[in-house]
Amino acid sequence: MPQKPTDWLVALHARHLERRGRLAQLRAYKQHGSTSVYAHSVDVASLALKLARRLPFKVDEDALVRGALLHDYFLYDWHVPDPERPMHGFYHPKAALKNADRDFALTDRERDIIRHHMFPLTLSPPRTLEGAIVCVADKLCAIKETFRRR
Ligand SMILES: [Fe+2]
Ligand SMILES: [Fe+2]
Repeated sequence: MPQKPTDWLVALHARHLERRGRLAQLRAYKQHGSTSVYAHSVDVASLALKLARRLPFKVDEDALVRGALLHDYFLYDWHVPDPERPMHGFYHPKAALKNADRDFALTDRERDIIRHHMFPLTLSPPRTLEGAIVCVADKLCAIKETFRRR
C-alpha cells in the first residue's frame, strides 16, 4: 500500500519530486524488511521535521524535507548483488546525490544532507544542521524498520 505522507510539507515536496523526477520509483525498492525505500524516505522526512521543530534553532524546512526525501535516491535494488557496485553502505549516498543532481536543481544544503547521511559509516560528517538532523532521523527510522520486521 502506498505510504501517505502525514505532514503537508512532506506531501507537497514528495508530489513535486514524483512529478518532476523519479521519486515514485522508490516505491518499487525495498529498504528494510517490508518497508519500501519510498516509505522509508517519507518517514525520515516526517521524523526529521518533527525533530527540527523541537530544536531552538532556525531550520530550513524545505531543504530538510527535500534532502530527506532524496537521501536514498540511489534507484537500484541493493538486495541484488552487483559485482560492479562498491559496498552499498558506503556507495549509495554518492549514487543518490548523482541521481538527484541529474533530476533536480539542488541547494548546497540539500547536497550536504544526501552526501553525509551515512555518517559515521562514511567518515565525513554533515556540515549543516539539516544534514545532522536527517542523519539522526535516518538511523532512528532504520532501527524502527529493522525491529518491526521481527
Ligand atoms: Fe541511506
Ligand atoms: Fe535512509
